[in-house]
Amino acid sequence: MVYVTRRTTFSASHRLYNPLLSDADNERIFDKCNNPNGHGHNYVLEVTVCGVPDPLTGYVLDLKRLRDIIEEHIIEKVDHRHLNEDVDFLRGIIPTAENLAWAFWQILEQKIPSGRLYSIRVYESENNFVEYRGEPIDVPRYLVSTTTTLHDDDEILQR
Ligand code: NI
Repeated sequence: MVYVTRRTTFSASHRLYNPLLSDADNERIFDKCNNPNGHGHNYVLEVTVCGVPDPLTGYVLDLKRLRDIIEEHIIEKVDHRHLNEDVDFLRGIIPTAENLAWAFWQILEQKIPSGRLYSIRVYESENNFVEYRGEPIDVPRYLVSTTTTLHDDDEILQR
């Protein structure tokens, strides 16, 4: 098995906030990342596909093709956006690097033309990154605006 990786970057803003928690708890847990109007990161995304090299081409998959897939399905949707507000597939998800990696996996897994998706790494800063390898996890969606506090009659949907 050979592992091939495409590395790319995007810039986006987000706010870490859970509408189920009080403002005080949100601030305690998420600290600066709870800033009401968001804040930005220069993210690095690494997508790794594994497989056996094709005997005719020597490729697991053409990395140019992987580049184009990531560009079309992820980067164009998230680059220079507010992750809480502007990205349909992240709607209601707390946009931690963990949850971004999971969400990107859900999209990319079906798009890989040869080999199989092995890992997604999301770097939020030079020293902090997360890696997701596709084990099933439950990522809730909180369908409440990030800028309002939850009230009793707000609807909360979980996947
Ligand atoms: Ni942040």
